[in-house]
Amino acid sequence: MSKLRVGIVGLGNVAEIHLEAYKEIKEIDIIAGSDINPQKVKEMSEKWTFKGYNDHTQMLENENLDIVCVLVPPRYHKDVIEDIAKAKVNILCEKPLASNLDDANKIVEICENNSIKFYYGATYRWLSACRKARELIKQGSIGKVSLLLETFIGGRGIEGYKDLGANHYPKGGPGGGGMGLIDHGIHLIDIFSWIMDSKVEYVVGRGNFSGKSPKTEFLTIMFENGTVGQLLYNEATYSANLPYEGIFSWGGSWDIQGNLSLEGSWEEYPGNIRIYGEKGALRVFYYANKLFFFTKDKKQPIRVLDRPMPGNFALQMESFINSLKNDSELESTVYDGLNALKIALAAYKSFDTKQFVRIEY
Ligand SMILES: NC(=O)c1ccc[n+]([C@@H]2O[C@H](COP(=O)([O-])OP(=O)(O)OC[C@H]3O[C@@H](n4cnc5c(N)ncnc54)[C@H](O)[C@@H]3O)[C@@H](O)[C@H]2O)c1
Repeated sequence: MSKLRVGIVGLGNVAEIHLEAYKEIKEIDIIAGSDINPQKVKEMSEKWTFKGYNDHTQMLENENLDIVCVLVPPRYHKDVIEDIAKAKVNILCEKPLASNLDDANKIVEICENNSIKFYYGATYRWLSACRKARELIKQGSIGKVSLLLETFIGGRGIEGYKDLGANHYPKGGPGGGGMGLIDHGIHLIDIFSWIMDSKVEYVVGRGNFSGKSPKTEFLTIMFENGTVGQLLYNEATYSANLPYEGIFSWGGSWDIQGNLSLEGSWEEYPGNIRIYGEKGALRVFYYANKLFFFTKDKKQPIRVLDRPMPGNFALQMESFINSLKNDSELESTVYDGLNALKIALAAYKSFDTKQFVRIEY
């Protein structure tokens, strides 16, 4: 079979990671990329040797593409997706699905009315330590799960806080920093549901707003099966971690200031999830590519597949390619994107109403 022809819309930070990851995939050729910033088009098309465009509609018209990756900020996802779907090209879209529910519902409608495949970029599902943790839980290794927990507290105080800005999330609407509820927590909301294989029934929480001063964000998720998911974020303070809580990472990641490194390095504040069950517990260092297993008798490191970030972006694309080749079910759908956003935005509603919010599907 000939190689699939891939185009990219949005040539910013995350495009570098996708392109780095796609180097190892034989079944695709990166044909073209577009960005509204001409400087980005020049730099990236030269670096990655593809045809550059300033307008994605021209790219869609001129190139016969099989897949377009939507890597623009969330507030522009809907408009770009609409154009790609019109051109009948399959889509891989970054998270969050959109910056608001109207756009997200419109994206679902666009996908349902066009015969294209739409892959939601739930990239944490493809981090090896997360996949292995899910497998162990499914095998019953830690018994019935009672709590999934991620906390990310740290940064350089209020003065060092960086809002992602109105270009990503419209001013005054849900938004905030890169390690906050909407931008980062959306990954965790997705994988908590995916790991538990249970629907979310109720949530309560609080989220930050784009352009406004940051507060502590939290989200408590009550699953139908009784498990609780808990997220707690504040990137406008200082970490109280001790040096021995750092870890050597095998893969790339972002530091607390949002700086990307693609190499394994010492991580002072390694991103991690704790999962507690009736018979044991897991500690999942998702970017460091490490997993630890605890029971009454054992404390054990568990081997995971050696494809740390950006390998998860390659695994995700490989999953999409398989679905396209075999016309099989997608491993992450537009509905997964919609549900994650619904749950994140329900935190805002609960804070307004001071009540638990039921998630309607
Ligand atoms: N999966 C992950 O781990 C991960 C990590 C980082 C970012 N992301 C997601 O990737 C997306 C992009 O984030 P980023 O950090 O690369 O942002 P960025 O600001 O670095 O880059 C976005 C690029 O899109 C361009 N752009 C904006 N509107 C456009 C349009 N209409 N057409 C073409 N180009 C346009 C901008 O000029 C910019 O170059 C977001 O949805 C973000 O949430 C995902």
